Amino acid sequence: MKIIAIYSSKGGVGKTATAVNLSYDSAQSGKKTLLCDMDPQGAAGYYYRIRAKESFNRKQFLKGDLEPFIRGTDFENLDLLPAHFSFRNLDIALDDRGGSAKELKRIFAGLKDEYEVLILDCPPNITLLSENILMAADMVVTPVIPTTLSILSFAQLIKLADKLEVNRKKLAAFFSMVDKRKKMHTDIIAKFGRKKLFLESEIAYLADVEKMGIYRQPVAVSAAASAAATAYRQLWQEVWRRGVLT
Ligand SMILES: Nc1ncnc2c1ncn2[C@@H]1O[C@H](COP(=O)(O)OP(=O)(O)OP(=O)(O)O)[C@@H](O)[C@H]1O
Ligand SMILES: [Mg+2]
Repeated sequence: MKIIAIYSSKGGVGKTATAVNLSYDSAQSGKKTLLCDMDPQGAAGYYYRIRAKESFNRKQFLKGDLEPFIRGTDFENLDLLPAHFSFRNLDIALDDRGGSAKELKRIFAGLKDEYEVLILDCPPNITLLSENILMAADMVVTPVIPTTLSILSFAQLIKLADKLEVNRKKLAAFFSMVDKRKKMHTDIIAKFGRKKLFLESEIAYLADVEKMGIYRQPVAVSAAASAAATAYRQLWQEVWRRGVLT
């Protein structure tokens, strides 16, 4: 099982849109896929029209008792573990359990025979939970809006990976919400786009992605022939190629 975390310490950069669309593309490519919503806002579950069972909360999650709470989606090969509101205190709970960065790895270990791909939609934080995410993931995919602050937060992530002695090869950034009419975007892409940690695929600023909130479906379903659907499929293929090779 490959664990792919969609992570950035910055909010609103396109993590959930990416997690929702990549999990769909992964499942479509025939891989048994689980999307795990780690964000108490529950947006990934919202897009797939799935809510957590009443009995599910942070306690079960931390015990690694996940299977009874996994829900099927409308799509073949794709399941979802919805977030619970109590996930907002996951950091404190992890801290109470000794502050280890390896808890998440243990929690997901029980799923390894069931799924080929586990995609994590992460909340925007840089905390103990982020350290756990870095340790558990085989690959950390970071959407970066081509602006100075987004680049800075990716630099922070590289620093954190170094501190935890996590191989930098696990990290992969891609430019998100790209608007080629903006000089700042084209300048930043020209400057950083060729760096090793950046993927070639980009996701442009596209209305079809915004409309996911209305249709509550991956773009490949609500707008099958759209540029957005094609762009996420390409991103998925590049992520998978890189994840398998490293
Ligand atoms: N490529 C895109 N083009 C246009 N709008 C986008 C794109 N990607 C995301 N959005 C929109 O931007 C907003 C933020 O996206 P999203 O929720 O995916 O970000 P996030 O990083 O998960 O945010 P948070 O940190 O709050 O979890 C949403 O309204 C979403 O529909
Ligand atoms: Mg999100």
